[in-house]
Amino acid sequence: MQRQPRGIVCILLSPAMPLDPFEQANQWEQAANVLRAARHVVVFTGAGVSAESGIPTFRDADGLWQEFPPEQFVTWQGLIRTALLRPRRLAAFVQQVIEPIARAEPNAAHRAIERLERHTRVTVVTQNIDGLHEAAGSTTVHAVHGTLFEVVTAQRRFLRLLNRAHLLKMAERLARLRRAWFLPLARVLWTIRPLVGWSWRGFHRPKLVLFGDRLCEPDWSLAVAAIEDCDCVLQIGCSGQVFPAALLTLLAKEQGATVVAIDPNETASDLWLAGAAGEVMPELLHEAFGDSAD
Ligand code: APR
Repeated sequence: MQRQPRGIVCILLSPAMPLDPFEQANQWEQAANVLRAARHVVVFTGAGVSAESGIPTFRDADGLWQEFPPEQFVTWQGLIRTALLRPRRLAAFVQQVIEPIARAEPNAAHRAIERLERHTRVTVVTQNIDGLHEAAGSTTVHAVHGTLFEVVTAQRRFLRLLNRAHLLKMAERLARLRRAWFLPLARVLWTIRPLVGWSWRGFHRPKLVLFGDRLCEPDWSLAVAAIEDCDCVLQIGCSGQVFPAALLTLLAKEQGATVVAIDPNETASDLWLAGAAGEVMPELLHEAFGDSAD
């Protein structure tokens, strides 16, 4: 894949039927064998890998998009319209996004993905913006949908880094603001100005990819290169409904890699290990390498 496709789009897929216990045992054995033999593993993660860290997913029944429809909050046009017409909803959305991430810590899945590096070459490609793979110690991470911890100009030039304490303070201020009976947009914008707003350097924003935005570079090109080189993809907590990120597993299958999905719900893959990432990933490492959590 040479040219970067235009911004991210979303398609809808229907959930599949669960496997019988015998078939599940067979999938586990095959997955452990593939992982043990792999020379280069791409761990491709979505919101599901961080669910056990307390960060809501997007499309599950309790996901973010149930309360905050993406067309109102994840396009620049939608965000501006929401800000002007319903500033209190904007404050609620920003708080709901940043607070769980500010409070989150890596879970057993993130730690097992870091330990996988002791057994083979690993490239993490994540759709998540929560920085939990880096916090767990993974050394090669490509965040193709950006990160909440980097503030950039409108042209995506680096301005500054934020940490979880910055985000938590902002979230707590938003929570106090939302209890006021009168909440003008100016007060919301003043509260979130470290993350998004205007200064003498012009408009600044978090380094995030909204629908219609171009993916982050060089992360996207490096992710494609890793996919083209790998012999196994662990697809963890991804619904596979957002493109072009979801193309990565199709590209991997096209070049002969085996795709192993770790997810309570089945998604398109060669092998499917049904369950929560924080339970399945450590167990898979143990099955494949005799690894045990520290
Ligand atoms: N362990 C593993 N998988 C889980 C867990 C868990 N504990 N909990 C939920 N999942 C799975 C769900 O079954 C689903 O397949 O995680 C997936 C979450 O899907 P989405 O909410 O669609 O999240 P994601 O695939 O990351 O969305 C991709 O869409 O909205 C955009 O930019 C946003 O990066 C995001 C992209």
